Amino acid sequence: MTSFDTVPNRLGTGSSKWSRYAEDVLPMWVADMDFPAAPAIIEALQKRLEHPVLGYGVARDELRDQIVADMAMLYGWAITRDDIVFLPGVEPGFNMALKAMLSPGDSVVVQTPIYRPILNAPGHWGLVREDAALAPSPSGWMIDKDAFSSKLASSKALLFCNPHNPTGKVFTRDELTWIAGECQTHDTLIISDEIHCDLLLDGRRHIPIATLSPDAAQRTITLMAASKTYNIAGMKTAFAIIQNPQTREKFASSRLGMVDSVNILGLEATLAAFRGATVWKAELLAYLQSNRDFLMGEIARRFPAIRCVAPEGTFLAWLDCSALQLTPDPQSFFLEKGKVAFSAGSEFGSAYRDYVRLNFGCSRASLEEGLRRMETALLARTAGEQ
Ligand SMILES: Cc1ncc(COP(=O)(O)O)c(C=O)c1O
Repeated sequence: MTSFDTVPNRLGTGSSKWSRYAEDVLPMWVADMDFPAAPAIIEALQKRLEHPVLGYGVARDELRDQIVADMAMLYGWAITRDDIVFLPGVEPGFNMALKAMLSPGDSVVVQTPIYRPILNAPGHWGLVREDAALAPSPSGWMIDKDAFSSKLASSKALLFCNPHNPTGKVFTRDELTWIAGECQTHDTLIISDEIHCDLLLDGRRHIPIATLSPDAAQRTITLMAASKTYNIAGMKTAFAIIQNPQTREKFASSRLGMVDSVNILGLEATLAAFRGATVWKAELLAYLQSNRDFLMGEIARRFPAIRCVAPEGTFLAWLDCSALQLTPDPQSFFLEKGKVAFSAGSEFGSAYRDYVRLNFGCSRASLEEGLRRMETALLARTAGEQ
């Protein structure tokens, strides 16, 4: 049984999460968990390093076959080896897709609030971003169907994210069916970032949007990786699944000059994760779920003014701090007064400056410490006001 309660000290390891702020700040920002990689992954990397040549890498058939088998087993999705294109990251993947498939001036729909590289990607390619905001409700995050449809009608692509970062929303089959149907009606390309696909809580099952209909299969570029689930994002390895051969060819040719071969160790780590770390994954999900439940309980008890729709997947919680009126904004407030670093809401869209995103992919002790720091910051403010 893996103990996620014990985590190594990451200071001085070149971790971007632990390097951005001073050492007395607790980092709870970037989507990177504090847990060691599964033993199966570390062993596979050590074994690979017994061979001392580390030239350019290419995915072995074993990895392609493993992904084909996993897609069938996990999602009932029949793909072939040739549908898979390996990439050094999901972010390069959605940028390649926009570059390959759209022309400057075309519009792309995104569902805000949204992960900053998705928010910014259309701008890199001279595209117009159309924001279709998700709205919080007691039963979860909702799509404003009329707004979404009308934006989609004038757009060439939907840059979709499921599970959704930062809200942790997991789209239901009904919602996915509706979205895929709208994309068919409006002949819209779907670029689906499914990097968090194996991080579903409460027994939910991921549904790749490409599996919803033969039409969706043909119009979707799906992007996945082992990186988030198995906490190996620094290995820079991901893959696209593209079942339409013309789209795949265009997509693959857009890598020229920019997105070359994939990290040779990342390919080994990905294979080991999918092949040998499924028990670890189940244990991780149980830990994340209990962190999520603890977090939601503590927010209700200690910070009733903060609103948060319980995340259904990911290890990210999206906290609406607007009722607290924190200045200059909640991220800076908690950083300065509490020495805890969240991601700033404004990174996810201009309407979200009163939000922060909290990463609960950490030990329970760190999560408790983060909440304690929030409380200290808020108490200091109340004392200062009196
Ligand atoms: C939704 C989403 N897409 C993409 C990425 C980045 O993926 P990569 O490191 O593979 O480029 C992240 C990282 O946090 C993410 O949350």
